Amino acid sequence: MTCDCYFVVLVYSMKTILTGVKPTGVPHVGNFFGAIKPAINLGANFLFIADYHALTTVKDAELMKTLTRDLACSYLACGLNPSKTVFYRQSDVPQIFELFTILQNTTTKGLLNRAHAFKAHGQEETVNMGLFNYPMLMSADILAFNTTHVPVGQDQKQHIEIAQSIARAFNAVYGETLVVPSPLIEKDVATIPGLDGRKMSKSYNNQIPLFAAPGELKKTIMRITTDSSLPAEPKPTEHVLFQLYSLFAKKDETAKMKKRFQTGVGWGEVKTALFEVANRELTPMREKFDYYQQNYHLVEKILADGAKNAQIQATKTLDLVKKAVGICP
Ligand code: TRP
Repeated sequence: MTCDCYFVVLVYSMKTILTGVKPTGVPHVGNFFGAIKPAINLGANFLFIADYHALTTVKDAELMKTLTRDLACSYLACGLNPSKTVFYRQSDVPQIFELFTILQNTTTKGLLNRAHAFKAHGQEETVNMGLFNYPMLMSADILAFNTTHVPVGQDQKQHIEIAQSIARAFNAVYGETLVVPSPLIEKDVATIPGLDGRKMSKSYNNQIPLFAAPGELKKTIMRITTDSSLPAEPKPTEHVLFQLYSLFAKKDETAKMKKRFQTGVGWGEVKTALFEVANRELTPMREKFDYYQQNYHLVEKILADGAKNAQIQATKTLDLVKKAVGICP
């Protein structure tokens, strides 16, 4: 194989992983284990705060600022490494919105009509254009960076399929220009149970806050629903207390706790043990979160650097797209 060939193979086998997160407030333990940690572990090339997407529902300037700030501090506290992952605010990259405008002209209304996000909303009169165009903006987010893989939850799969259709429609008219992305759906990300055993979710109000002070963390854990079985009785390891314990504990700790569940252990004792491992794991994250909140200028600097880098990458794609349509820079 000549050097040239080798280079081509290398380039074609390269993955570009990108994902976006809508700012929706300080995350809870379920968000951390179900979404944030897997996304960070994947080592995405690009991770951004989808603030323009949040505009479809957030109509309050102060709230928007707080949500964005909390999300940025949260991801950094959870271990996102901005020297490995380009971390930026969508709104800081105007190339995305230029691409969005161009893509409108090869995208049919019929395609977007099929999107479940706006259909679930019901009444046409109350669906704003931001919501209707949500998947097209998401496509611009993805296509601007020649993304090959987009890690998303099952609920976002349709959006990635729309991005594929939008890229193909553009390429069909102007020739191969845009990379067609694939969804990366993590199959074995477990559903994290909340205080009442149902999926941990803000809408069930059964969440354990991720950055709560130890006192509050303890109080929240003490509220986990148990039954009236006696300490000497065996307990099911499907119970939320065991599930949460195994997320925070080390393997050998989990193995020991499993034996205790099988032979009999008091719920109070388990709750204390869960608090101890959770607090041990969460303390460094809480400290980082507080540090970034108090030194937000550092976060702004990280986001500004990310934006600069993202703009350089997105400009490359946009220039190709503009050239393809005959609007040359
Ligand atoms: N719609 C995604 C969500 O609600 C957020 C998002 C916006 C996104 N743009 C994206 C995700 C691009 C992946 C790629 O979770």
